[in-house]
Amino acid sequence: MERMPYQEHAGADAVISTAAPVAPAAAARNDWRNGLPTLTGSLVTLRELRPSDARSLFIALTDDEVTRFISPPPSTVQGFETFIAWTGRQRIAGQYVCFAIVPRDSDTAIGLFQMRSLETDFAAAEWGFAVSPEFWATGVFSDGAQLTIGFAFETLGAHRLEARASVANGRGNAALHKLGATREGVLRKSFLRHGEYHDQALWTLLADEWLERERTSASPGIH
Ligand SMILES: CC(C)(COP(=O)(O)OP(=O)(O)OC[C@H]1O[C@@H](n2cnc3c(N)ncnc32)[C@H](O)[C@@H]1OP(=O)(O)O)[C@@H](O)C(=O)NCCC(=O)NCCS
Repeated sequence: MERMPYQEHAGADAVISTAAPVAPAAAARNDWRNGLPTLTGSLVTLRELRPSDARSLFIALTDDEVTRFISPPPSTVQGFETFIAWTGRQRIAGQYVCFAIVPRDSDTAIGLFQMRSLETDFAAAEWGFAVSPEFWATGVFSDGAQLTIGFAFETLGAHRLEARASVANGRGNAALHKLGATREGVLRKSFLRHGEYHDQALWTLLADEWLERERTSASPGIH
């Protein structure tokens, strides 16, 4: 998700759409609307954003290395506070979820995984991520990505998870490739950045492929 759904200058509620009522059968699956679970990996915890994360996220995600290929994040600590409040409202509306990435030995948010619904009730979703350069090449991204993908397929009930990465974003594309995502094609001149349109690669993961891979890698003797 190189283009953040949150737009700092578009008005805080500009992207919220009216959520459809939740059918009773889907209610349990939609508990996440009331608050995200905390997901624990071997290196990171993914948890709900808190207002107090604004400062560390501002430091982590406004680094030029991070913003080089993605839409600009909020430009001030206060902007991140507004963004964090927006993520909570979007979650309640059932449109979007955003996890803070927190290393296991700390309580400081060092990045984000975000997902937005592309169809009713997250049947298909788009995800995006950004991590402080201090934690690049440490395994933090892969660990958090596995948790996020599992959440998308097992809790949100998505069947397809899309990611867009600028073709020039070597690191972002390689990270998606390493996860086993399929590069379906190139969306030509689909991303406006610094007044110029950029091509983006479309990377997808499918629930049935992912869950089958998880099942076989968990089977004794099959690795
Ligand atoms: C994308 C991001 C979350 C990935 O996290 P990361 O910790 O850097 O990812 P990893 O180190 O696990 O994987 C990156 C891979 O890219 C490779 N790589 C680095 N630069 C590369 C380049 N220019 N071209 C190709 N591959 C490159 C690395 O060698 C690594 O592969 P390896 O583990 O096999 O050596 C992080 O780089 C980031 O936050 N980038 C800025 C925001 C962004 O671009 N988000 C993606 C939007 S789609």
